[in-house]
Amino acid sequence: MKSQLLIAAAGLGERMGEGRPKALMPLAGVPILARTLERFRGAGLVEGAVIVVPSHHRVEFADTLAAIFPDMTFRLEEGGRHRQLSVANGLAALDTDTEIVVIHDAARPYVTAACIDASIETAAACGAATVAVPATDTILAADEEGFVVDTPDRSALWACQTPQTFRVAVIREAHARAREDGFMATDDATLVRRYDGKVRIVLGTPLNFKITTPADLALAECVYKRKLA
Ligand code: C5P
Repeated sequence: MKSQLLIAAAGLGERMGEGRPKALMPLAGVPILARTLERFRGAGLVEGAVIVVPSHHRVEFADTLAAIFPDMTFRLEEGGRHRQLSVANGLAALDTDTEIVVIHDAARPYVTAACIDASIETAAACGAATVAVPATDTILAADEEGFVVDTPDRSALWACQTPQTFRVAVIREAHARAREDGFMATDDATLVRRYDGKVRIVLGTPLNFKITTPADLALAECVYKRKLA
C-alpha cells in the first residue's frame, strides 16, 4: 500500500511569542520542521511529503526546505485558521494513488521510527491509528468558573500524540462529515471516532511531545544535547 506523509506545519506558534512560524524556529540550530522530517527518512516518507504551511510564509518554507533537502520534492499547501482546516487542505493534495496517509505535527520532532512503522501497520490493518501515551497526570474536568466537576478514571485516559495514520478513504470521509456538521476537533482520529469508526492506539513515547511553549523548546534542546531521542 502506498503511504504518504502529511505534515501539519501551518500553526503560527502564537504561544511561542516569537512572531514567526513555530516550524521554522531553530532547534539546536536546525528548523524544527527539518528535524521532524528527518525522522521519516527511514520509512521513505520524506520524498513527496505534503507539507501544510501558513499562507503568508510559503516562500520562506520552500526556500528552507530546498536548502536542507536539495534532493527531495515536497508539495506545499496553504493552511487554514484551525489545524483541522489545514489537514483538510493537505488531504485534498495527496497523490491519487496514496492509500495510507501519515498525519504528523511539525512540532513533534522526536517521533520514533518504531511508532511510525507501527502506526502504518495498524492503519493498514484497522483503517485508523493514533499514537498516544497513558495519562500520567490525573486529569480534571472543570466548569467555566474553574470548579472541578469530574475526575475521569485515569487508567482509561491517554494523551494523544501524532502520527495519526489512516486509510485515505476513511479520513477523507470523516473530514467531509465533520465539515457538513460544523464539528471541529484538535486532532483527526477524533473525527473518525465521532462517525463510528474504530481507531486503534499505538503506544507512543513521552519524548514525542509537542513543542508549544518556550519551555517545551528549551526541553527539546536539552533532549538533543543529551542525545535522549
Ligand atoms: O496548535 P497546535 O500546537 O495543536 O498545532 C499542532 C500542529 O498543527 C502544529 O505542528 C501546527 O503547525 C499545526 N497547525 C496547522 N494549522 C493550524 C494550527 C496548527 O497546521 N491552523
